Amino acid sequence: MLIAVPEYLASKAARTEAALEQCFAEWVDTPATLLEAMRYSLFAGGKRLRPGLALGACEIVCGDDAPALPAACALEMIHTYSLMHDDLPSMDNDDLRRGKPTAHRVFGEAMAILGGDALLTMAFDVAASSGDARVVREIAQAAGVAGMVGGQVIDLESEGKRLSVDELKGLHARKTGALIRVSVRTGALLGGANDEAMGALTAYGDHIGLAFQIADDVLDVIGTEAALGKPIGSDIARDKSTYPAAVGLDRARTLGEESVAAAIGALEVFGPEADAFRALARYIMDRDR
Ligand code: IPE
Ligand code: IPE
Ligand code: MG
Ligand code: MG
Ligand code: MG
Repeated sequence: MLIAVPEYLASKAARTEAALEQCFAEWVDTPATLLEAMRYSLFAGGKRLRPGLALGACEIVCGDDAPALPAACALEMIHTYSLMHDDLPSMDNDDLRRGKPTAHRVFGEAMAILGGDALLTMAFDVAASSGDARVVREIAQAAGVAGMVGGQVIDLESEGKRLSVDELKGLHARKTGALIRVSVRTGALLGGANDEAMGALTAYGDHIGLAFQIADDVLDVIGTEAALGKPIGSDIARDKSTYPAAVGLDRARTLGEESVAAAIGALEVFGPEADAFRALARYIMDRDR
């Protein structure tokens, strides 16, 4: 089956955004600036890849994506908070995100920090509404010390250094891969996946997680600000440890393609119900945004 990935992601994004709006409906007696900063970043038009993965994995295993909506919302909130903090002057110091000035440029640093904190906290409220403690726990582990936050620390401490490909793989697995992997896993868990499906989807998540950050590194070199909605050249300016810096653009692309092939290979236990995920894996290296 021919799958148009942008349309697939857009349809999952529309469902996620409606559910995210619902999450905000109950907050009335809250400082307006805080809500504004949270909403500014959250509803700025990201690709919604992580929710798409959670909803898609759930649909593959049970034919319906609705059970995964709490995880999808929680993951997008955590992802958005990670971007708000990643862009801060003390981290990557970037001024453009999702095609708009970064939160700290609009609301000030304090509100970008607190808005991120509030999204992170809210994410666990929403994740808990799934009624599945495994989901809450897996998201906590992927977002924290052993996952995204730990990876961000390694990323900062690796500025100005030359990491080996193995070290880079470990960095990318944490800072980006962990959240992508857990998106697939929590969607599958909420869909009631058996062990075989869980194993296959976990491997898929690991491989596309690496490919996704390799593509992000490559796009920082050859992408356009207009398509990406964020500055290019940011990694070079900060002498970041990236795949293009370590092995060059061509080799980085080849390694990314190998991860895509491995991701598609991991789906062989599934039939046509996983075609969208096969196409999504290819899109991850072919994308321009
Ligand atoms: C950017 O993520 C940050 C990384 C982890 C590489 P995305 O490329 O998914 O950003 P949005 O959500 O579409 O803005
Ligand atoms: C960010 O990696 C990973 C996060 C956890 C946010 P990057 O710093 O490369 O992401 P971009 O390029 O700013 O989106
Ligand atoms: Mg960064
Ligand atoms: Mg950055
Ligand atoms: Mg980047």
